[in-house]
Amino acid sequence: MDTMRWKDGSLILLDQTKLPVKMMYITCTRWNEVRDAIRILAVRGAPAIGVAAAYGMVLAAYELLKNNHTITTSDYIADLQRISKKMDAARPTAVNLHWALSQVMTTVNHMTAATAWEITKVLEKQAIAMQHEDVSINTALSTYGADELLKYTNKPLTILTHCNAGALATAGVGTALGVIRALHKKNRIRMVYADETRPLLQGARLTATELMSDGIPVTLITDNMAAWVMKTKGVDAVIVGADRITGNGDTANKIGTYGVSLLARAHHIPFYVAAPVSTFDLTLKTGTEIPIEERNPDEVRCIGEVAISLKNASVFNPAFDVTPHENIKAIFTELGVLQNPDSYTISKFFKQKEVL
Ligand code: MRU
Repeated sequence: MDTMRWKDGSLILLDQTKLPVKMMYITCTRWNEVRDAIRILAVRGAPAIGVAAAYGMVLAAYELLKNNHTITTSDYIADLQRISKKMDAARPTAVNLHWALSQVMTTVNHMTAATAWEITKVLEKQAIAMQHEDVSINTALSTYGADELLKYTNKPLTILTHCNAGALATAGVGTALGVIRALHKKNRIRMVYADETRPLLQGARLTATELMSDGIPVTLITDNMAAWVMKTKGVDAVIVGADRITGNGDTANKIGTYGVSLLARAHHIPFYVAAPVSTFDLTLKTGTEIPIEERNPDEVRCIGEVAISLKNASVFNPAFDVTPHENIKAIFTELGVLQNPDSYTISKFFKQKEVL
């Protein structure tokens, strides 16, 4: 299942809202179609929306050229800036979206002496490179994560995961599911418990499907079973993805992750985050500063198309929550394993790696 494909100047997205019942693709030829696909979660997962947004900006650039063959570079740049802000607003929590758009706009702003056409060609190359780079980032962090887990045991592992941090959420093998895939390659997965992940069921619809299609043993559970599974099924570790990690290691991820981290703590089960460096937002000190997306109340009032409450039931629907860094044993990144994340270990890690 390819999450996205760039073909003949169009972005083809696998429509994840339809999975696993139907495999349908959305062909985007305009930037606002990409923004809408991000909004409705046709493409979702922090790294995937970053790459999709970069392609969305390429579509925007081509649209500007098509609408005005003689557009000046300064008008073109101003228009791209305006569009990038609109794209960025599609989903506020995952910082990878903002990161990818900043990369694009940095390129644009460094090319003021070039023509709009030349800049567009560079943006296209940049988006393609970003997609390829995500593949190698996933592989690197997955290898680090699997090696780290295997330090502690020779036995096959039982892992619990939440939401979908897999191939569908990235351009590669995934982050949390990338680690699981790397462990499976070494015959070290006994079982993966996948939380269904209400309200939109990314665990049931996407994670269970991805793992089953790779022949990785997976058992689907409802979210409220996680504590009992931890108590009775010998869970060795929890691994999740991330949408934004602040300077002290507090981590935003799909709603329910915070609860899972508390349950893991109560059962003395190590809780790991797998995420690329682009998920760190060191402009924020703590998780309280992370903007949390609130989505349409109907996502809670319904399961798929079926209503499960009164139409006017009052609803709270945050799409993400924040796991405090104290609950996280380590973060697996493409640069290595960041142990015991806090302000000190994070700034030391990035200083040593000489990035950010
Ligand atoms: O709302 P979603 O489906 O985009 O939420 C996705 C998650 O929370 C993932 O765990 C996160 O983006 C990491 S994906 C590698």
